[in-house]
Amino acid sequence: MTNLPFQLPDINERLSPTPNGVISLANAISRRRSTPIKMMNPDGAGPEGAVLENILSAAMRVPDHRKLEPWRMIVIKGNARLKLGKELAERYLELHPDASDASLIEETNRLLRAPVCVTVVSSPDHAHKTPVWEQELSAGALCMNLLYAAHASGFAASWISEWWAFDPEIDRVLGLTENERIAGHIFLGTALGELAERPRPSAENKVSYF
Ligand SMILES: Cc1cc2nc3c(=O)[nH]c(=O)nc-3n(C[C@H](O)[C@H](O)[C@H](O)COP(=O)(O)O)c2cc1C
Repeated sequence: MTNLPFQLPDINERLSPTPNGVISLANAISRRRSTPIKMMNPDGAGPEGAVLENILSAAMRVPDHRKLEPWRMIVIKGNARLKLGKELAERYLELHPDASDASLIEETNRLLRAPVCVTVVSSPDHAHKTPVWEQELSAGALCMNLLYAAHASGFAASWISEWWAFDPEIDRVLGLTENERIAGHIFLGTALGELAERPRPSAENKVSYF
């Protein structure tokens, strides 16, 4: 069996309602943070093969009302990154006919900032009795799970949207249908160094009791 950073349970296993490894889970929740995309090493290692599949499989273990699986993922890695980057530059020029050469190069290289990008697509069933809002939240949970699964596998991760998450032409290039939207582009790779903490909200300001 491949030596993976963590193992997913077999379908036949009985799961304890109290997770094992509470301390490391608590550590992940309390100490994980995103790697700003500028802090990602463009030439660093990214998850591959069974490790990447393990991350993607773990990420799909999300609350999902009535088992609709209202999401999917598109992996962009290797040469596909430049292929999509060229599409981004082309679309950017269409939207900004006066775009500078520098900005077009930036678009072309957009995917090269990290070794792997997982684009999470929200695919809600609008005709279903489960509210679309619930289905969309499930896609957001999947994005968050991807961050944790990558973190637990020893990789840096960054959830970003940028303009290309909101462009109908790029949606078409990526093969999205009319009812689908991009929930996030999750870049996975290796950080260039340690990360500064960012200010966090306090329970005092954000929590009230009814
Ligand atoms: C839906 C969503 C979209 C985001 N899009 C961007 C983005 O386009 N560019 C960016 O720099 N950060 C973006 N962020 C912010 C970062 O992913 C992240 O929240 C921030 O860097 C701090 O994350 P941390 O609390 O995990 O450290 C986005 C966050 C969310 C939830």
